[in-house]
Amino acid sequence: MTDSPFPGTPRIDARDKVCGAALYAADQGRPDMLHAALAVATINRGEVRSIDTRAARAVAGVRLVLTHTDMGDYKAPGHVLAGGFGFQSMQPMLSNQIAYRGQPIALVVADSLEAAIEAAALIKARYDEQPSQLSLDAPAKDIVAQQGSPLPQAMFADKVAGDADAAFARAGVQVDAVYAHPPQHQNPIELVSTVAEWRKGTLVIHEGTQNSGAIRHGLARQLGLDPARIEVISPQAGGGFGLKNSLQMQTLFAAVAARKLGQPVKLVVPRGQQFHDTSFRPASRHRIQLGADAAGTITAAIHEADQQTSRHDLFPGSYAEMSARLYGIPNFRGRERLVRTDVQTPGFMRAPYEQPASFAFESAIDELAYKLAIDPLELRLRNDTQTDVLTGKPLSSRFLAECLHEGARRFGWRRRNALPASMKAADGAAIGWGVACGAYKAATSPTMARIAATGDGRILFTVAGHEMGQGMRTAIANVLVRRLRVAPDMLVIRIGDTRGAPQHLTAGSWGTASVVPAAEHAAQALMETLAELAPGHAPGLLPAQILALAGRERVEVEVRNKAPGQPDAVFGRLQGGMPAPMGPVYPDFVSMSYAAHFVEVIVEPVTRRIRVARVVSVIDCGRVVSPVTADSQVRGGVVWGIGAALREISEVDPRYGGFLNADLAEYVLPVHADIPPIEVAFIDKPDPLLNASGVKGLGEVAMVGVAAAIANAVYHATGKRVRHLPIRIEDVL
Ligand code: MOS
Repeated sequence: MTDSPFPGTPRIDARDKVCGAALYAADQGRPDMLHAALAVATINRGEVRSIDTRAARAVAGVRLVLTHTDMGDYKAPGHVLAGGFGFQSMQPMLSNQIAYRGQPIALVVADSLEAAIEAAALIKARYDEQPSQLSLDAPAKDIVAQQGSPLPQAMFADKVAGDADAAFARAGVQVDAVYAHPPQHQNPIELVSTVAEWRKGTLVIHEGTQNSGAIRHGLARQLGLDPARIEVISPQAGGGFGLKNSLQMQTLFAAVAARKLGQPVKLVVPRGQQFHDTSFRPASRHRIQLGADAAGTITAAIHEADQQTSRHDLFPGSYAEMSARLYGIPNFRGRERLVRTDVQTPGFMRAPYEQPASFAFESAIDELAYKLAIDPLELRLRNDTQTDVLTGKPLSSRFLAECLHEGARRFGWRRRNALPASMKAADGAAIGWGVACGAYKAATSPTMARIAATGDGRILFTVAGHEMGQGMRTAIANVLVRRLRVAPDMLVIRIGDTRGAPQHLTAGSWGTASVVPAAEHAAQALMETLAELAPGHAPGLLPAQILALAGRERVEVEVRNKAPGQPDAVFGRLQGGMPAPMGPVYPDFVSMSYAAHFVEVIVEPVTRRIRVARVVSVIDCGRVVSPVTADSQVRGGVVWGIGAALREISEVDPRYGGFLNADLAEYVLPVHADIPPIEVAFIDKPDPLLNASGVKGLGEVAMVGVAAAIANAVYHATGKRVRHLPIRIEDVL
């Protein structure tokens, strides 16, 4: 058990960030930089009939205006889950088709940003409009069930163990309820932005991304270029959360404009456009059926999910995978369906399936606990498992019961009065205590890492990985500082950069479990190589001292790492910019991370305002390798959970499409005053099977279950079961 905060190598880029020295894509400046802006569609579905760019071209300083009539030579990127590289298969402006409100119809490039914005606003289009569909209650023709879908079957296949329908019908105690999760947008503070420049026939892209490999190879496809002539540089992303995990629509525009004009071009997608032209968390609806016996053994669970996708892509739903794996429920059936709607293709947003699934499933578990009159903590413990229900394989490590016990102890759960609306504060406010759990796959991506020691004492390390604020550089530094006794300021860690190692998507909470074993392996290989250079040297010398003995200025080694059981072919996918992660199912085991969250809410008298008063979160992510950033990941996850439970929703008017609250004033997020004390603890037991470092994943599991714990606490405070998010005052009046 490890308390937070506790020591470790501090965040190695903290000082740079505080001083403004950390460089983000849009920080790139050049004397000859040109600025681009987009004009976007004002209908939700149809075709551009005509477009008038004369007024835009007349604005002083405008250098280029592009519409679909200029873009015919370029290719669509393809969808990242269907052999392509883009968050959606289509590239705006390759034709006159409009698939969603806010889709770009023209690009303006000018000497100044002001001129580009002014000119873009003067572009006038006429449209042929078609009706659109935005609801999960769609006609049958818009509903995609498993059969015949072009996606990999595994993503759609029902998740089945035993006979859940029969066991549910037989169960003495049943819960059958439907939970709704709204669309949400992740809104990283760094806007999606690209600086494109051509240097002697090589295209250089500066962009904050989780996937510089996909940008390189996707742009190569779009432009018809050799990928070797494209470099992508992304030393920092100012938040990603899934939105920056593939090729965006603006990158091609910046590249094309920079080539046509022979000057670097910067294109920053403003917040309002980002709501419409990047991916988002789709709306979903979940029917959960639970059956149990009177002793609290859950004998059956059925999870049926409907999720919104776009009309042009099938972004798969995979909600039941988490709910099947949370407990040892022997009879389980999960079913996913998609509903085609007229939006940009939705995508991955932090804990993309697990957040909505855990809200639904863990609310249902709480409902079952009340029906059984069993403490919700106790009910969860009674249904613990060390075996994966879907595959029958052992779990590599699972300390969820330990998370629950430790969280309960820290929270003081024993003092809870189980009766709803029974606990009151001195001012008459209702107090509610809720608990919920989360699980998230422990995945791994392949890496080809290089490490070098130099005579001046520096250690250079490059690997596939992206720094998006989560602290990947710091996780790597923790390893190299310990293994090589190098000072943090003598480390040069190059990630997110195609000029270093081949770059793979950083997502799915597989970053640490992928780069930390790579760093350990590289450090080991470096020391072995050094030992051979200076045989018989005294023990305990530093790399630079051994180099001096050997009369060498520099030595470099390369190592390759992949998930247990992965074929060598994954390195080909890695080098081709394709996703190649594995997990949670490995040949001999299944590997997941776990969380238990305990929440106190206060529902104020009269106003019925809901406030989160305190949170205790205990996490099993295997070994904690970077204590400072791990602690901060969990706090961030809890804040997201508070946002999901009480604030966040992307509002849609089905008559017009698009998203109405497309800015940070109206897309309501928790602010600092909404965040209570958060107590974080880690089980910190190394996973014995997943990798030699004993690390699983952390980024996403930290938020899984938080919203359910809050909803369960609201029920405990008020006796009102709210089955949709966000929970608002009017739900508990
Ligand atoms: Mo993250 S939502 O897996 O990019």
